[in-house]
Amino acid sequence: MTQPRTLDAIRVDYPAPAHVPKDRLVDLGFALGGQPNDLVDPYEPFGWLAGADIPRLLFNPPPPGGHGAGLASMSAGKGSWIATHYEDIDRIYTDNEHFSNKGTAEFQRLIGETFPSIPLAIDPPDHSKYRLFLAPHFGPARLNRMEADIRALAAGMIDEFADKGEVDVAWDFGRVYPVRIFMGLMGFPPAMFEQFLDWEWDILHSGTFEKMGAALRGVLDFLRSFIKEKEAKPDAYLVSSIVNGRINGEPLTDDEKIGIVWFLWLGGLDTVAATISQMFRRMALQPEIQDQLRGHPELIQPAVEEFLRTQPILSSSRSAKKDFEWHGMQIRKGDSFQCLNPAGNFDPARFDNPREFDMTRKANRHMTFVAGVHLCLGAPLARRELRILLDEWFKRIPAFRVRPGADTTVFPGLLSIRNLPLVWDGK
Ligand code: HEM
Repeated sequence: MTQPRTLDAIRVDYPAPAHVPKDRLVDLGFALGGQPNDLVDPYEPFGWLAGADIPRLLFNPPPPGGHGAGLASMSAGKGSWIATHYEDIDRIYTDNEHFSNKGTAEFQRLIGETFPSIPLAIDPPDHSKYRLFLAPHFGPARLNRMEADIRALAAGMIDEFADKGEVDVAWDFGRVYPVRIFMGLMGFPPAMFEQFLDWEWDILHSGTFEKMGAALRGVLDFLRSFIKEKEAKPDAYLVSSIVNGRINGEPLTDDEKIGIVWFLWLGGLDTVAATISQMFRRMALQPEIQDQLRGHPELIQPAVEEFLRTQPILSSSRSAKKDFEWHGMQIRKGDSFQCLNPAGNFDPARFDNPREFDMTRKANRHMTFVAGVHLCLGAPLARRELRILLDEWFKRIPAFRVRPGADTTVFPGLLSIRNLPLVWDGK
């Protein structure tokens, strides 16, 4: 499918709010992860949006069906301002005086639930008490304790297919490995694995209100009864620690318990899976990355950061807390903003040779986990899972490629790749 390359190609006319100038109206649907392509660098078609000649704020119509892809805000019903330059994206994520996260990723509202997604949809100053409460469970000490189990899981799973010379790395590996780790951390029953993935798929990717609603009902009913179980019979896992924990000496309310457990469930399930599929696709299509990593395992850690920069699977949103003027535009309280991470991560004003996959890149401060107070809580876990996976992979698997004839199209976003068959010859 051809991708638009100029502003003129994406201009649209629609009844935008009166304070939005007509020359800012564009349809950025193509850049929000819903349209597949087959490029080695699947995010390349959106890079031009960070160009010096592109206006600093654009405005995108509401997504069809009224809800956005991924973790988009549910408040974008009139359309959204779009930021595509690194500097502006950084401001939106870090300026808590002008931008709010209320309403972000609150899919539960579709079925009439009113509890907030915690900590994502909570603004400072309240946000910090939740973050402090959760941080130890995702910090270095906890991750160090998990490391041996994560490594054993990665090694064991790879051993199962190493001698076969092939694996569907998206379906049989990427989909399973991070979810098993996440479910183990939370203490969820392993038997819920397929059901969790089905619910998550229906909520994030089915695109129909009926399927989303049924999945939301299913998962929230399950989580509420699981919370009750852990209250009655605490164990050593994270859901139990959360629901039996205290914040500032007080037990959590029912809304706080479900708000936290629900958002961890949503944020923890398929984010790493999408990243793994895209990471292996990139290595299969650009074998010099494999060669470099196989020869220099010490580069695995910075390479993980570069994989994260070059495949930002989410574009986050915020809303304006007040009226103000920015880049000559009148911003009104309640206006929705979407930060186009796939443009910001390739902004030439911030990154030298932004399209180059450079695992020796210094100060690789990308926006894949956003910035500011909502910086992904699971980022250290995600990084650790990816690093261990590459460590164990390169110990066992020689040069690999996509199985000839296999479909390599990718949705450059959370939807990503469902199947990616890789093959390799004997060692
Ligand atoms: C490569 C994998 C991942 C990516 C790309 C990713 C991306 C993100 C992004 C973009 C945000 C910020 C959203 C916003 O501000 O609007 C976020 C927040 C968050 N993520 Fe992740 N995530 C990943 C893995 C995980 C995992 C594995 C977990 C949990 C086990 C997790 C838990 C969270 C939580 C709790 C927040 C909210 C933080 C806060 O509001 O303070 N994430 N993530």
